[in-house]
Amino acid sequence: MDDQHGHHISYLRVSITDRCNERCAYCMPGELHEWLPREGILTFEETERLIGIAGSLGVSKIRITGGEPLTRRGVLGFLARVPGIPGLDDVGLSTNGTLLARREADGRTTADWIRAAGVRSVNISLDTLDPAFYAQITGRDFHTAVLEGIEAALAAGFSSIKLNAVLMRGRNEDQLVPLIEFAQERNLLLRFIELMPVSTNDVLTEENFLSIGHARRRVEETFGHLIPEPGFRTNGPATYYQIPRRQQRIGFIGAMTNLHFCETCNKLRLTCDGKLRPCLGSALEFDIMQPMREGASDEELRRFFLNVVERKPAQHDFRENYQPGRKMIAIGG
Ligand SMILES: C[S@@+](CC[C@H](N)C(=O)[O-])C[C@H]1O[C@@H](n2cnc3c(N)ncnc32)[C@H](O)[C@@H]1O
Ligand code: SF4
Repeated sequence: MDDQHGHHISYLRVSITDRCNERCAYCMPGELHEWLPREGILTFEETERLIGIAGSLGVSKIRITGGEPLTRRGVLGFLARVPGIPGLDDVGLSTNGTLLARREADGRTTADWIRAAGVRSVNISLDTLDPAFYAQITGRDFHTAVLEGIEAALAAGFSSIKLNAVLMRGRNEDQLVPLIEFAQERNLLLRFIELMPVSTNDVLTEENFLSIGHARRRVEETFGHLIPEPGFRTNGPATYYQIPRRQQRIGFIGAMTNLHFCETCNKLRLTCDGKLRPCLGSALEFDIMQPMREGASDEELRRFFLNVVERKPAQHDFRENYQPGRKMIAIGG
């Protein structure tokens, strides 16, 4: 699928829940979150059908996300079916990592289970190695569980494990180097992510915003000049650098300050309540659940996808003071 701005769409991010066992300050505020009603959420069967439609239109990569996808009941059965959907060659999962070391009924860890199901990669969020700060930012005391989750993912043998850390000025700036060391010791690919205005939250202020440029300079104070690697790309918009005198690269994801951020965008998003979104940073979304539940044929759903791709904007609206109507937790990061 190609849009009007030269984007070739091959990647669908699929949120399967708006629920989460954490309360990250930049994503979901406090305890007053109103969950979507169960009947308003796509069933796994419906989600699989839509992934199949996307697969028939050239989407080859899927990332399952949320909310916290591993909190949804039945998720392991779903994850075991998705890699078999025709057209897909790469299925990944984004998780906060808190549940990866959990033991399933057969004694294997959730991470082992997911790997055996055919999920190729996991992205795990970790903003700090400081347990007290972790609890402060996520609202939960799960730091040890995440570290165990990372070890479980390593033991499970995924082809790719990435660590994602959201940058917060004056809050986790002193964690950049420890996170780099942590990633190197485990041979994990670490990426630093700029805060995006995707929550109606007070954390998302100028004061808390740390640009990737600033973060890079902080890292360079310790490691020296980072060596750009323009030729290295993963599936997303990160730019990568090599750390001098080390076999380690790190990534920076700068939706706010990287003016080329949207040029290589290859993504569509499916929210857990059945909306197709052509761009995370735009209020545009299209309800595909309703026509599907009213009996739309596969061909009609395919046309729906193509129409949404037609509407994909050239770039996101974050820099034009986009005020999100939905929080990240509901869109699926
Ligand atoms: C919404 S979460 C969903 C998956 C899973 N619960 C997790 O935390 O990885 C996906 C990613 O979005 C990031 N995220 C959430 N809110 C954000 C914000 N306001 N700005 C930048 N990244 C954000 C999280 O740090 C996480 O890496
Ligand atoms: S970033 Fe992930 S772990 Fe944190 S509240 Fe959002 S969905 Fe939950």
